[in-house]
Amino acid sequence: MTGRRVAVIGASGYGGLQTLRLLQGHPGLEVTFLGGERSSGRRWSELVPFLPLPGDPVVRSPDPEAVAAEADLAVLSLPSGLAARLAPGLIERGVRVVDLSADYRYSSLARWQEVYSAEARETPRSDADLCAEAVYGLVEWREAAIRTARLVAAPGCFPTASLLALIPFLKQGLIEPRGIVIDAKTGTSGGGRAAKEHLLLAEADEAVSPYGVVGHRHTSEIEQLASEVAGQEIQLQFTPHLMPMVRGLLATVYGRLRDPGLTAEDCSTLLCAAYRHSPSVEVLPVGTYPSTKWVRQTNRCLLSVQVDKRTGQLIVMSAIDNLVKGQAGQGVQCLNLLSGQEACTGLPLLPFYP
Ligand SMILES: NC(=O)c1ccc[n+]([C@@H]2O[C@H](COP(=O)([O-])OP(=O)(O)OC[C@H]3O[C@@H](n4cnc5c(N)ncnc54)[C@H](OP(=O)(O)O)[C@@H]3O)[C@@H](O)[C@H]2O)c1
Repeated sequence: MTGRRVAVIGASGYGGLQTLRLLQGHPGLEVTFLGGERSSGRRWSELVPFLPLPGDPVVRSPDPEAVAAEADLAVLSLPSGLAARLAPGLIERGVRVVDLSADYRYSSLARWQEVYSAEARETPRSDADLCAEAVYGLVEWREAAIRTARLVAAPGCFPTASLLALIPFLKQGLIEPRGIVIDAKTGTSGGGRAAKEHLLLAEADEAVSPYGVVGHRHTSEIEQLASEVAGQEIQLQFTPHLMPMVRGLLATVYGRLRDPGLTAEDCSTLLCAAYRHSPSVEVLPVGTYPSTKWVRQTNRCLLSVQVDKRTGQLIVMSAIDNLVKGQAGQGVQCLNLLSGQEACTGLPLLPFYP
């Protein structure tokens, strides 16, 4: 198979596991390398007995030379700051990279260093050229650029849900650039597989907690693309909340309509038109509101729009599975495009309900 051999680096983490699951039985992509650090040297069946892989491979240290010998494409599903240590060596050797972390989501390295200052102290970087070159992997809005990219920065989970809701309205100049509010909820898997106290069952169960209330890192990521499509600087308010569920993300986006005569039906028609060629995005009828359960384990984003005539507010609700459309599924969409396939090849779009 040419151009379709995939290395998954960070295989044992949540993003890696979802990627491997999605690539099992994929008609046009084959996993040929598993990478990790702590898990390096371990046989897959000992590490992850519930997801058997053909040939029961051993996880290896992701040396770029070894990866390039066995893979054409690499998914990096690593904690922030680590992709930047690996990607340059892979790209130099002809491996095209999809990074699920934030390392290449900003076109300016200086901006990444500002927003991810702790990681920047650990990982000194001089790859400003790669930051400028990387394509932001929001498939529905960047398909052509992704197809020919060497490096794709898959968006974060909150930016994915928020931007899919916002972009059609910003592009058409239908909402005021100031005063946009995003209120979002996510499950505990958003924090990754490594142990963290606030994600313990005893802490997170039966509780809803806001976090990162001012200056969450995803704010600047959302603002970057929102400003680009709006053609002017967008500053918005983004507040995430942790919910007592494993997976799922719901973002409710508020913006002030410029034309108070616009109805929910008008806005819904606009959304439907914007996503008519995007099988991963579905617009629900006006008055039907999405639930995270409706997108569980799928690569789907469900959107619904409402207008409050009294306040002049546009309200767009956006539900995704944070680990699929918000992470690994979007990564596989990018791999599909890099390897000349349709974006949704091999991806689940229907949930097992409930
Ligand atoms: N979780 C989400 O909902 C979500 C959504 C969108 C984007 N993201 C982003 O996706 C990335 C991965 O997130 P995750 O939730 O999948 O994290 P995770 O569950 O903590 O997994 C991280 C993986 O990285 C590996 N790793 C750590 N240090 C390494 C090193 N030095 N060399 C090679 N492998 C190393 C770990 O493997 P070992 O144990 O073998 O070291 C593990 O497999 C993060 O940047 C995150 O921000 C996450």
